[in-house]
Amino acid sequence: MASPHVLPSYLEQEPQVRERFSRLKARKVILQVKDLGKTFSSRQAETVALRNINLETHRREFLCIVGPSGCGKSTLIRILAGLEEQTSGEVLLEGKPVAGPGRDRGMVFQGYTLFPWLTVKKNVMFGLEVNNMNKASAETEALQWLDLIGLEKFADLYPHQLSGGMKQRVAIARALANQPRILLMDEPFAALDAQTRAKMQAHLLEIWRKIDITIVFITHDLDEAIFLADRILVLKAHPGEVQELIEVPVPRPRHLTQCITDEFLATKARLEELIYSVKTDHDAEEETIAGGDTSLYPMVARLTDVADNVE
Ligand SMILES: Nc1ncnc2c1ncn2[C@@H]1O[C@H](COP(=O)(O)OP(=O)(O)OP(=O)(O)O)[C@@H](O)[C@H]1O
Ligand SMILES: [Mg+2]
Repeated sequence: MASPHVLPSYLEQEPQVRERFSRLKARKVILQVKDLGKTFSSRQAETVALRNINLETHRREFLCIVGPSGCGKSTLIRILAGLEEQTSGEVLLEGKPVAGPGRDRGMVFQGYTLFPWLTVKKNVMFGLEVNNMNKASAETEALQWLDLIGLEKFADLYPHQLSGGMKQRVAIARALANQPRILLMDEPFAALDAQTRAKMQAHLLEIWRKIDITIVFITHDLDEAIFLADRILVLKAHPGEVQELIEVPVPRPRHLTQCITDEFLATKARLEELIYSVKTDHDAEEETIAGGDTSLYPMVARLTDVADNVE
């Protein structure tokens, strides 16, 4: 009888992957998060959403952040965006402290955030004109961005005339049009069906390959994280802390067929081990009160859904 196939360690990297990571780490640091903490206080309770978060991303790095529901992913990205203030620690973008929102950071979130009363082209032009670009130049630039995302033919349509995937592509073009140093994405494809999501992932990698942008991307979907990322930051919940930073051993350029390779499966096994096996004080408390932490169940259902679609 054949012996069962044993996956290699996710820490094993082929020479060309190792080489890629040494080049990545030699690049300039774009974003630095130092000893970051966030506590939400109300009269009833104090919630430690983030504790002692440290991370660095390099120029043109693609960093994914994963972790169970409530581990502080959105809080972290909102602090990076300047929409939320940390309780302790600091965030430096190209060495300068982040205080409030700024043009140097583009954002794409899950909900469709396009202005419904503006055409696709005018949605992309909006930020450019706000930043004092004249109308003619803003129009030329907007059309170039729409060309890059493959939607130039839809420039004069309104958001309600687009599919969900197309809307998110416009949102990406709009965020990139201001030429940010870093693109912050919080579950941008979570509302899309599995096929559209896979296409959007490929699109995003294509855009990222063409321009000088560092991406921080939050997702619940472990396959998505492995497919996209150079490195994956794994957070744990209650309180939100860094568990591990994984260097994805899957070579680039990425292709969907890689999701059954040993490197991919070994990374996924490690992520599952980290995310599903951790017990927090909070879990133990909830188990005694309510008989279990149900916050993970929707995630398990979604992962099963993805596995079904992979066939
Ligand atoms: N404005 C707020 N006021 C009080 N508590 C908050 C606030 N925003 C977030 N929290 C708490 O902080 C913790 C982290 O929330 P956050 O939304 O960042 O988690 P998440 O990892 O993005 O979760 P999900 O995967 O469900 O999107 C949670 O315990 C949440 O209840
Ligand atoms: Mg969130």
